[in-house]
Amino acid sequence: MQGIAADGGMFPNLAGQVPQYLLRQLHHFQTHVRADPDAPIMWGMAAPLTPAQISRVVEYFSSQKPATGHVYDPKLVAEGRKLYYGGLPAKQMPACMACHGTGLAGLPPFFPRLAGQKRTYVINQLTYFKSGQRVATHKGIMNYIASRLTPQQITELAAFIRSR
Ligand code: HEC
Repeated sequence: MQGIAADGGMFPNLAGQVPQYLLRQLHHFQTHVRADPDAPIMWGMAAPLTPAQISRVVEYFSSQKPATGHVYDPKLVAEGRKLYYGGLPAKQMPACMACHGTGLAGLPPFFPRLAGQKRTYVINQLTYFKSGQRVATHKGIMNYIASRLTPQQITELAAFIRSR
């Protein structure tokens, strides 16, 4: 109800998300641009929404109080923090903070909030960006970024993101 998903599942938090990002994703579900393996669940949900209804759900969820962070594994969090703020210069990967912000709150209108996002969801999205199953907007930025990451680094980043 408040846009905070249950722990341990595959579903993302929506509370406090950048409104323009939510709007774009709902359009991408309606038009099937977002076609990663989990997206069809949302195709059916988004299909009947009118533009006015979309505006209202976007306004509702983006104005809910964001999730609070939780540390599950301090070692993973520490490694993820280094990647988030430092990037991987040797692999020409910019730091995540450049777009998602030093506080992980995102940068409207393009860059989504990450802070407190569920680990499974983050791992799935980075894995789908890496494989190309999720097509990223903005010149495929996230496909490029994720192509630089190993599965272990993806797990570390997910732990750090969940901790904030
Ligand atoms: C140059 C800018 C840029 C950088 C650097 C960047 N991102 Fe992104 N990220 C984006 C954009 C833009 C999107 C939205 C993609 C879309 O709309 O398809 C996004 C989306 C995401 C998503 C999906 C969010 C959701 O709710 O589905 C995750 C997770 C993510 N980024 C994690 C990261 C991580 C981790 C890093 C660092 C390793 C990173 N990003 C670096 C621009 C960036």
